[in-house]
Amino acid sequence: MSIKTAIIGFGGMGSFHADQIKGINSLKVTGAYDIKPERLNLAKEKGYKAYQSLDECLADDTELVIIATPNNFHKELSIRAMEAGKHVICEKPVMMNSEELKEVLEVAERTNKVFTVHQNRRWDRDFVIVKEALEKKLIGQPFYIESRVHGSKGIPGDWRCVKEAGGGMLLDWGVHLLDQILWLVDSPVTEVYAHLLSVKFKDVDDNFKAVLKFKNGLSVLIEVCTYSFVPLPRWHICTDNGTLVINDWDCNGKIVKANQVEFKWEESIVYTSAGPTKTMAPRPVETIDELPLPNVNPDCRDYYDNVADVIRGSGSLIVTHKQMMRVMKVIDAIFESARLGECIKDVEAYEN
Ligand SMILES: NC(=O)c1ccc[n+]([C@@H]2O[C@H](COP(=O)([O-])OP(=O)(O)OC[C@H]3O[C@@H](n4cnc5c(N)ncnc54)[C@H](O)[C@@H]3O)[C@@H](O)[C@H]2O)c1
Repeated sequence: MSIKTAIIGFGGMGSFHADQIKGINSLKVTGAYDIKPERLNLAKEKGYKAYQSLDECLADDTELVIIATPNNFHKELSIRAMEAGKHVICEKPVMMNSEELKEVLEVAERTNKVFTVHQNRRWDRDFVIVKEALEKKLIGQPFYIESRVHGSKGIPGDWRCVKEAGGGMLLDWGVHLLDQILWLVDSPVTEVYAHLLSVKFKDVDDNFKAVLKFKNGLSVLIEVCTYSFVPLPRWHICTDNGTLVINDWDCNGKIVKANQVEFKWEESIVYTSAGPTKTMAPRPVETIDELPLPNVNPDCRDYYDNVADVIRGSGSLIVTHKQMMRVMKVIDAIFESARLGECIKDVEAYEN
């Protein structure tokens, strides 16, 4: 039987959840609550029970609630829901910081409720391509990874540009990129250095760069830029025998790898149109092979099936409490680095 589910916050993401869940059997959305009457009316028009209050929503016989409100309400609503006996899927960022998350995880433990966060971008095609390429060793061991998203429209003029609502790009897109990287890299973060910029939205970060160093030596750049009219590649992964690049949202890209043909350093300098160079001159084409990216077809609705299985007592969460705490601790460190203008060390000392 499908798990009866209510959605709290029936805005953009709340209605997206409702539409996604229509396509699966494990969950069934039966009702929604929102503080805005027009969003409640929309929920009603779509055939869901429209709760007039949070209390009414939490008193109903749903087993699961999905919280899709602005970020500053995640903590209070998660705690209220679990104390009312509901399992919870919370939208990302799971909380505003690791302290809030600690409190909420204690409530999950005390109430024995399933609590998890919707890190749906683990199922994004570009990320799954990268994960598969690394796991299948299509390229060597990375020493440097760049993971970025570039847009040019600034940030939407809603709660996302209000600090106290949990606005800003680090908590918005940054949390996805960090969750992906921390899931991909099996090594603790040792150092974080970050720049947070408020280019047009003075209350929050509308652009940021964070450099992460891992204990295994890997260096990672995480970047969100909302004023890049010529986007840089979504992924750029360097290993000593090849590079993987994914250029855009359509996952166009390639793997370029050194083959068995030895190249010889030219004795003479190469004269490019930009100027002379030896070290950086293009590699002779006969020494490299170009490979297509792996073909993958992830379905982000698998996330809901996983949560449903765990509620029914089988399997374990794909997005675990430990993983969400790692992400929040790194986010805390990024904010701290930007505030102090310093590198933060021993970010995950507790992992060692
Ligand atoms: N996982 C993803 O890919 C993804 C994508 C977009 C948004 N999100 C997350 O979803 C959440 C909502 O974002 P959105 O884009 O849908 O915002 P939105 O502004 O479109 O919707 C938020 C809704 O919550 C309602 N609301 C506000 N406070 C409330 C409260 N106390 N109780 C009940 N309802 C309340 C608002 O009236 C609004 O309808 C955020 O946490 C955001 O980070 C996740």
